Amino acid sequence: MTDRASITSGRVLVTGASRGIGRAVAELLVSRGARVFATGRDGAALESLRALAPEQVATFEAELTDEVERRRLVEFATSLWGGLDGMVLSAGIVRYQEALAITEADLRAQLDVNLIAPTMLLRDFGRHLRDRGTGGAAVLVGSTLGMRPAPMTAAYAATKAGLHALARGFAHELGAHGIRVNAVAPGIIDTEMIRAVRLREGEVEPEGPARDARIEAEVDGLRALCPEGRLGTPEQVAEAVAYLLDAEFVTGEVYVLDGGLGLR
Ligand SMILES: NC(=O)c1ccc[n+]([C@@H]2O[C@H](COP(=O)([O-])OP(=O)(O)OC[C@H]3O[C@@H](n4cnc5c(N)ncnc54)[C@H](OP(=O)(O)O)[C@@H]3O)[C@@H](O)[C@H]2O)c1
Repeated sequence: MTDRASITSGRVLVTGASRGIGRAVAELLVSRGARVFATGRDGAALESLRALAPEQVATFEAELTDEVERRRLVEFATSLWGGLDGMVLSAGIVRYQEALAITEADLRAQLDVNLIAPTMLLRDFGRHLRDRGTGGAAVLVGSTLGMRPAPMTAAYAATKAGLHALARGFAHELGAHGIRVNAVAPGIIDTEMIRAVRLREGEVEPEGPARDARIEAEVDGLRALCPEGRLGTPEQVAEAVAYLLDAEFVTGEVYVLDGGLGLR
């Protein structure tokens, strides 16, 4: 690709493309003419994305914490259309836990998906672009929690702070190869990720309708934290990601979009 200003009409790998923010990014990029290499673990969800534009979407099921699957993903994605121009790393998990209840297993699980997999994928993408000499851009999906942790998110927030540093560090070194790396830091976005019960010490997880009611109460509480009383949408984050993919003079930035959450 010679026109570095239009990564969004190039070939872009998107992780977490099965749902939520990654899915919205994939759909937006397709609507702008990109070819999207979509990955996630949910094959049926990926297939429903491919069905929207079979000519423009390729899918690959991969568990990103598995080194072998990750390597296969990179090999396939970098060869399928003759190379990649962009990468959006949206896959992520959260384990809501009080600070004094954090377990090593949950910390490691979040580090694996939220920091280790993105680091290795970004490294491989960087090598690919350096060897092709074409330049390109990556956007990482961080979080405002990486700047201002909220209760029950200390470990998750630490992984996102690491991700922001990763974007800046890679941007510094990869600029010489014409590669830009940025992150978005969304506030509270209405996806499956926020629809969880945040268990306090000694609490037993409710079931059935009680669980549904508890989740709705949790989401209402999150909504009330936002100055406008509404959550963000995956589509709004996707617009910011697309901007950063094509923003020729922007690199090493962490772009906050939080509906004013940070004003609190
Ligand atoms: N929602 C928010 O309020 C919010 C705010 C700030 C930042 N973020 C960040 O935004 C990103 C997307 O979150 P979301 O809200 O869209 O969450 P989501 O709806 O829960 O989607 C998470 C995505 O990550 C993928 N994923 C998770 N673990 C994976 C693994 N081990 N291997 C491969 N794929 C894996 C899932 O794939 P499968 O479903 O196919 O398994 C899914 O596509 C995350 O990095 C999250 O931390 C979210």
